[in-house]
Amino acid sequence: MVTLAHCQALDARDPLAFLHASFAKPQEDTIYLDGNSVGAMPADAPDRVHALLTQGWRDARRRGWSYFDWLEKPWLLGQALSHLLGARPHDVIFSDNTSVNLFKLLAYAWKINPQRPVIVSERYNFPTDIYIAQGLAHFLDGQAQLRLIDHPDELSAALGPDVGVVYLSHVDYRSSYRWPMRQTSQAVNACGALVFWDLSHAAGAIPVELQADGADFAVGCGYKYLCGGPGAPAWLYVHPHHQEKDWPVIAGWMGHEDIFAFAPNYAPSAGVRRHLTGSPSILANQAMSAAADLWKQVKPADLGWKHQSLSELLVDLLRERCAHLGVTVTSPLDYAQRGGHLTFRHPGAGSVTEALLALGVVSSFRKPDSIRFGLSPLYLSHADIWTAVDRLVQVLETKVWKEPRFAKVSV
Ligand SMILES: Cc1ncc(COP(=O)(O)O)c(C=O)c1O
Repeated sequence: MVTLAHCQALDARDPLAFLHASFAKPQEDTIYLDGNSVGAMPADAPDRVHALLTQGWRDARRRGWSYFDWLEKPWLLGQALSHLLGARPHDVIFSDNTSVNLFKLLAYAWKINPQRPVIVSERYNFPTDIYIAQGLAHFLDGQAQLRLIDHPDELSAALGPDVGVVYLSHVDYRSSYRWPMRQTSQAVNACGALVFWDLSHAAGAIPVELQADGADFAVGCGYKYLCGGPGAPAWLYVHPHHQEKDWPVIAGWMGHEDIFAFAPNYAPSAGVRRHLTGSPSILANQAMSAAADLWKQVKPADLGWKHQSLSELLVDLLRERCAHLGVTVTSPLDYAQRGGHLTFRHPGAGSVTEALLALGVVSSFRKPDSIRFGLSPLYLSHADIWTAVDRLVQVLETKVWKEPRFAKVSV
């Protein structure tokens, strides 16, 4: 049996424990297991945003562009986080949101691999990913075609000489299934196609090796595990081999080779910066910087140890203490096949998440019967996981979740 003392012993060895105090404590203290949707707030983010508004917008006005690093932020943020992604510092930028970055890079990838019209993806990929691909095929009036697989095992049969891009979420937003990035990228590249990964449910939870594992393109959200705050910029990565093969799809002035030349004709900037579009979102980048300064202190190996330790502890606790109460772990049991969160099933899942919320445990419900616990290695302890499961046991044993007050399920 896993005990609280065992969890506390793991916490004593936690290489990231020093970061817990760098996160703000909300007024209503909770065990926050929803970092797969919106990450917790770095404690100094409000002061930094306030300083930007006063010293920047109020006092410096347009001189702010010269006094501060507003223009450089998209690549400074990329440099600060690139080690977590296994990318060279100048191969990552932060801009726009994930959906826009998906479109920019999917259209670019499709165009640089000509005579191969097919985009392979998963039917149950995150909706925005699939809508972006459908929208691109629609925009191209049938020149691009989508081939959707229902299960990872179907990928190899879907590959062929007509496939230009394989477009996948590294970690599934429902089950947390994690594709083996290196093996998959190699198989895709071997058939002449490019591979494009959405890492929204991986980056900041588990270390990744984009360049070593053969990713051609990648994007991810800034507001989930990366803790960049509401409306945080998303990031994008392009493998060095592909960075200068074509113009970006949105040829905005921020991606021009000489922004302030105000030249009448477009010429793309060197490297990934050509995928910048218009004026950066300065406030959002400022909040993201508070998180980036924490990420600079994180070694990928420590992130990997901590996440695996939390995730395996949660599986053990759920199986030991909740199986007889109707809980089934539905994420893969092999850790190598799991991403940031862990998903389990219970027939009353919606009401159970509401009852947990009343006890200070924040998690998320996915229809029809799944609960996701997002495992951020930065601000969660092993004792937090123990307490969250203890409260789940309480909710299930007392059947309090059946009370009418928990019938209405929040989003
Ligand atoms: C896998 C994945 N991709 C993209 C998004 C959405 O990205 P955005 O709203 O920044 O466009 C989400 C949001 O939850 C997601 O889970």
